Amino acid sequence: MPGLLERFSLDGRVAIVTGASSGLGVAFAQGLAEAGADVVLAARRADRLEGTRKLVEDAGRRALVVPTDVSRQPECQALVDAAMAAFGRVDVLVNNAGIGTAVPATRETVAQFAQVVELNLNGCYWMAQACGRVMGPGSSIVNISSVLGLTTAGLPQAAYSASKAGLIGLTRDLAQQWSGRRGIRVNALAPGFFASEMTDQYKPGYLDRQLQRVPIGRVGDPAELAAAVVFLASDAGGYVTGQTLAVDGGFTIT
Ligand SMILES: NC(=O)c1ccc[n+]([C@@H]2O[C@H](COP(=O)([O-])OP(=O)(O)OC[C@H]3O[C@@H](n4cnc5c(N)ncnc54)[C@H](OP(=O)(O)O)[C@@H]3O)[C@@H](O)[C@H]2O)c1
Repeated sequence: MPGLLERFSLDGRVAIVTGASSGLGVAFAQGLAEAGADVVLAARRADRLEGTRKLVEDAGRRALVVPTDVSRQPECQALVDAAMAAFGRVDVLVNNAGIGTAVPATRETVAQFAQVVELNLNGCYWMAQACGRVMGPGSSIVNISSVLGLTTAGLPQAAYSASKAGLIGLTRDLAQQWSGRRGIRVNALAPGFFASEMTDQYKPGYLDRQLQRVPIGRVGDPAELAAAVVFLASDAGGYVTGQTLAVDGGFTIT
């Protein structure tokens, strides 16, 4: 039996991270590489993905950059095909690409609502389907949901909240379809507040007000979320499936 810390190792594994061009996706790619995985990097901004490639290679692992619009199913399939052609296997999928919007419900247009759901929910499903077809036993999918999939936070976010709650349902169902039959575990993370380009868009004062609901009393460090991704992605999380883990400084208990 491997020692406890060895169970967190991703040596010899291949991970795909979507939304790897900025924010949390960069930290996930770096963390997975530090844990031993080769990493396939996807998002639309190819120039920014090159920056993440350097972080993965500096950790001593191989990286593959595949510019991808995750809301388009054929591009998701092409991403997984490219990963298989380059590395011959896919063990880990981190479904991280997402957009956050805040539009009052009486004003939100069909196109605005659809854009959020097509990326945050549908795109995760297209990625999971394409990966699920090629993943072997011992593989793991980590869907990046949000505390907004579980509660509210004072902004008009019907599209975002619906997409993130939908992702929790998707996680549960794929886990019951694949955990036993295919050996693929499927879990979700519900991050609280972490500094990123997405949270940079908040109006002054918003974050300070929300932090009053956070028992730990500060925003999260992306490395604290990457550690949870490595846990769920690796054999350390081998008996965990279908779950949504809030990494939120306690936000959802208040
Ligand atoms: N930061 C937080 O506090 C927080 C809290 C809860 C949940 N989350 C979730 O964490 C995830 C990452 O968010 P973040 O905070 O790191 O925000 P971010 O810095 O804005 O990153 C979003 C990522 O998604 C990618 N993306 C956007 N549209 C895409 C598309 N159509 N196809 C492919 N990639 C696309 C972006 O890359 P391109 O623009 O290059 O495509 C970028 O890499 C999101 O799912 C978000 O909902 C974040």
